[in-house]
Amino acid sequence: MLERHVFLIGMPGCGKSSLGKRVAGNLRVPYVDMDQRISETVGCTVSEMFDRYGEQAFRNAETNTLIQLTRETPSMISTGGGTVLRENNRAIMRNHGVIVLIDRPLEEIMSDIKLDRRPLLAQKGLGEVERLYHERIEIYRSVADFVMDNGNGYHAGLRGLEMIMRHMGC
Ligand code: S3P
Repeated sequence: MLERHVFLIGMPGCGKSSLGKRVAGNLRVPYVDMDQRISETVGCTVSEMFDRYGEQAFRNAETNTLIQLTRETPSMISTGGGTVLRENNRAIMRNHGVIVLIDRPLEEIMSDIKLDRRPLLAQKGLGEVERLYHERIEIYRSVADFVMDNGNGYHAGLRGLEMIMRHMGC
């Protein structure tokens, strides 16, 4: 049982969803993927949402989803890579949980990120991944309560995130 939400933040391709889902399952805590929640609510994929309604509509849905989540059972929550960009979203996460940065080296992200599922990156390619990384890394670091170095492979990442969760009493 968690006392507060655990928000996983970080770049697209850093491992938020893959590690979060697995660790939450191992520790038997509820898990929410924000992109998936938004897709289910809106009734289309995140890519379709960007195409049909634009990025601002998606960002508004992210904020609304965070607000909704504050009223739900404390869970492990994988945020989208851009959720931290709004100060309001950062305040909601700070006030309702613990924030964990999944910090994966840029070269590793670039070597295996799936661009086709990511509307912000699909057209502009890997150069955009690099640009976003440099634009965002300080924001991610400044808002994180814990930083999990995910540069040593999947299994080390699982252990690292589990250690942080145990530290929080899980
Ligand atoms: C975004 C990241 C995506 C998704 C949307 C916008 C971003 O999530 O929320 O495409 O701005 O970095 P992932 O971090 O899970 O790829």
